[in-house]
Amino acid sequence: MSTRFLLPILLAFGVYAHDAHGKKTSPPSAKLLKSPLTTAQARPELGKAKYEQTCAACHGTDGKAKSATDLTDHKMHSMKDGEIYWVITNGVGKTMPAFKAQLTETERWQIVLYVRQLAK
Ligand code: HEC
Repeated sequence: MSTRFLLPILLAFGVYAHDAHGKKTSPPSAKLLKSPLTTAQARPELGKAKYEQTCAACHGTDGKAKSATDLTDHKMHSMKDGEIYWVITNGVGKTMPAFKAQLTETERWQIVLYVRQLAK
């Protein structure tokens, strides 16, 4: 194979690899995750206690801690519920742990609703 054909392939690969490497938050597919909560379960106040137990140490009771992402920041509005859920489930960066084992799916979605309320 001549370099004329190889180069574009290498370039395409390089761009792709770079993109995957730079990823520190949820993948695009997380946007599509849908909450399985029933109407009775879909109440932010049900996520409050779990938030205070699990998240407040880093993010603050009001979500405004300086040491972690400000959960009341306007940028949070660009995050879909599914992306917040993904971050709680899998963690993000080197500092935010995954809570997949610690919280049930229902609890994680209820925390998403509570985080939404903090940003209001
Ligand atoms: C040990 C500290 C710690 C705990 C506990 C923690 N977080 Fe975080 N969180 C962080 C840090 C640090 C970041 C910023 C990470 C980065 O951008 O690299 C972050 C980022 C986030 C983000 C933004 C993610 C993004 O894609 O920008 C959300 C949303 C979030 N946390 C929600 C939560 C929720 C909800 C909980 C509780 C279930 C929680 N966090 C628990 C430290 C923590």
